[in-house]
Amino acid sequence: MTKAWSKSDWRAKPRVQMPDYPDQAALQGVEAQLAKYPPLVFAGEARRLKKELALAAEGKAFLLQGGDCAESFAEFSADNIRDTFRVMLQMAVVLTYGAKVPVIKVGRMAGQFAKPRSAPTEVIGGVEYPSYRGDIINGFDATVEARMPDPQRMLQAYTQAAASLNLLRAFSTGGFADIHRVHSWTLGFAEHDKAERYRELSNRISDALDFMNAAGVNSETAHELSRVDFYTSHEALLLEYEEALCRIDSLTGQPVAGSGHMIWIGDRTRQPDGAHVEFCRGVLNPIGLKCGPSTTAEDLKVLMAKLNPANEAGRLTLIARFGAGKVGDHLPRLIKAVREEGANVVWSCDPMHGNTIKAASGYKTRPFDSVLREVREFFAIHKAEGTIPGGVHFEMTGKDVTECTGGLRAVTDENLSDRYHTACDPRLNASQSLELAFLVAEELTARREDQRRVAM
Ligand code: PEP
Ligand code: CO
Repeated sequence: MTKAWSKSDWRAKPRVQMPDYPDQAALQGVEAQLAKYPPLVFAGEARRLKKELALAAEGKAFLLQGGDCAESFAEFSADNIRDTFRVMLQMAVVLTYGAKVPVIKVGRMAGQFAKPRSAPTEVIGGVEYPSYRGDIINGFDATVEARMPDPQRMLQAYTQAAASLNLLRAFSTGGFADIHRVHSWTLGFAEHDKAERYRELSNRISDALDFMNAAGVNSETAHELSRVDFYTSHEALLLEYEEALCRIDSLTGQPVAGSGHMIWIGDRTRQPDGAHVEFCRGVLNPIGLKCGPSTTAEDLKVLMAKLNPANEAGRLTLIARFGAGKVGDHLPRLIKAVREEGANVVWSCDPMHGNTIKAASGYKTRPFDSVLREVREFFAIHKAEGTIPGGVHFEMTGKDVTECTGGLRAVTDENLSDRYHTACDPRLNASQSLELAFLVAEELTARREDQRRVAM
């Protein structure tokens, strides 16, 4: 039996990566206000996502999670939301075709504002400032005032998340997400002279849609073709915000994080006895847990027991982020730990956070080839272990930024300064994201063919 839980129990636990607000009265004022606001998501949606993730654990669905490293107040616009949503839909169609199972679409959106940092301070122009921790906590500008944690920012983050989610919901059901439209955008990508490798798969999807249309299955007759379910997620880092948006599900009486459908625990905040694990263990939402090179089998076992004591399917997604060339050193030992516990988990691959390097120009970047290599290693290990690669987790945007190098439109080190807009880590741009989806689809197709051979 797990001990009784209350939404503020985390306050008695050691906390890391959270700000010390100088004005406690102002903080409490904001918390009280947020506690009165409506939750952003409904508990029934979080439960439905959990059911879908349960299928991903069995290989009967595939998780696509993606979006900004950090959403920013300055970059907030309908166009940015639309473009990221659009490329995720394109990716989902390609992945669905490769996997032949439903793709669960989860944005790092409408709440992904708080960032863990490698150091509490940073030196800019010879002056030391508190580190930028995401727009929900402090400002990006290099001034002492901007870097001061300000609780009022939580209210702005809430408002931005609410408006983003409202638009995403409208796009999801209002006709924007129609599969024929989505695929026509992908055809444009596949026309690129270097996209030959992807043209065939793209044409096969066109054929499948034409065939269905001829058979009378189209957007008018089948609503599944014109609307999607789209979920939101973020790292549950700023626990004052999470607690203030925690609500009780009227149906089950269980607490639910009202800040987003899925929340995850970062690689720096997964201490088994720490505040973040304490908060997350008590809410009914699907929970992600980042697993990096320093995750020990012992810790993972304790964390699985704490976060999913009933071993509920779909509750826990392990997001592996080791770095290209390192997956073989770490994933097998963690798969073994999961197996020894008989734990029910979704395995997802984050090929971003273990592959950040500093370019000669000084920009933080990620080579497309390293990202792809980590994904391939993830699939190869699961094949060798007989376990299921259940999803992928990308930092990406629908914009044509130059933050990661490589891809068929070949962003080079020298290009990085052209359109480097991220508030935090480098993101795949629209073309790189879609290209990666095609390459993941190839892995999924190969996996399906292997299974078919085994079954024969
Ligand atoms: C992130 O997902 O932005 C992040 C900080 O990842 P990690 O906790 O895996 O380093
Ligand atoms: Co990041």
